Amino acid sequence: MSEYIFDSHKEDKELKRLKLIEAAFDADSIQFLEKTGVKNGWHCLEIGPGAGSILTWLGDRVGERGLVVGIDKNTKYVDDLNGAPLQIIEGNFSDAHFETSFDLLHCRYVLIHNAEDQDMIPKIKPVLKPGAYIVLEEPDFTSAQLLNDPLDISQGRVNTAICRMFTDMGLNPGYGLTLPQKLEAAGFEITDVVSKIHFASGNSPVAKVMAESTEALHDKYITTGEAGDVDLKEYIANAKDEKYWSVYYSTISVIAKLPS
Ligand SMILES: C[S@@+](CC[C@H](N)C(=O)[O-])C[C@H]1O[C@@H](n2cnc3c(N)ncnc32)[C@H](O)[C@@H]1O
Repeated sequence: MSEYIFDSHKEDKELKRLKLIEAAFDADSIQFLEKTGVKNGWHCLEIGPGAGSILTWLGDRVGERGLVVGIDKNTKYVDDLNGAPLQIIEGNFSDAHFETSFDLLHCRYVLIHNAEDQDMIPKIKPVLKPGAYIVLEEPDFTSAQLLNDPLDISQGRVNTAICRMFTDMGLNPGYGLTLPQKLEAAGFEITDVVSKIHFASGNSPVAKVMAESTEALHDKYITTGEAGDVDLKEYIANAKDEKYWSVYYSTISVIAKLPS
């Protein structure tokens, strides 16, 4: 099983980071999920629910006649949610066997972390019903940009370190950009693609996520040799400073459908 980069992050800090992700991105994800028409009675699968906000939203939407399975390598933040219509499973999605097939599968910021990503999308297909929807939301860290500010020197080094960390692990820092082709190759029909550049000021929701993730991944970024401690401190200070603007990365969200 491939290493997940936040595995060694302290529990309370990781929960804080996951809640920041939810605060920054849930509104967009929910708006996107609404487009599938998810409704009462549907069976849904959430891969990597993290702290569980989308899992809970899906549970409210499908109601008691429905089912929402959440599978995560680490379920400690969602175990308390277990109970109809939510079912929590601890484990790697790649090894999982489910007792039902699903009308909708969602995952956000999960596939990029999996070296077996070439196999993940074909593995997803057999767990879906004919005509089912898949909603994938993954980042592209290669789209981070500099804005010609003197402070950008450190920012640029950290952006390079983020990409290098992924490539050194055999992962693709631009993974989100590969989603449409991978889904089409696996037999899905793309129905919607939204690419969002996270151009934001310091202390904005996305900047808070990046500051927290940079603290968590400090040693991993240093190991790449692309950024030093001073760069990381400056990146975090910028991300907390409302006067500083940055293009942090992009998120590519895709809705695709299996033929009926
Ligand atoms: C960056 S977090 C995102 C959490 C949540 N999807 C969100 O966006 O709020 C990634 C989550 O995916 C889980 N994860 C990563 N790879 C996984 C795999 N192969 N199978 C199951 N869970 C996985 C991690 O444990 C973590 O909870």
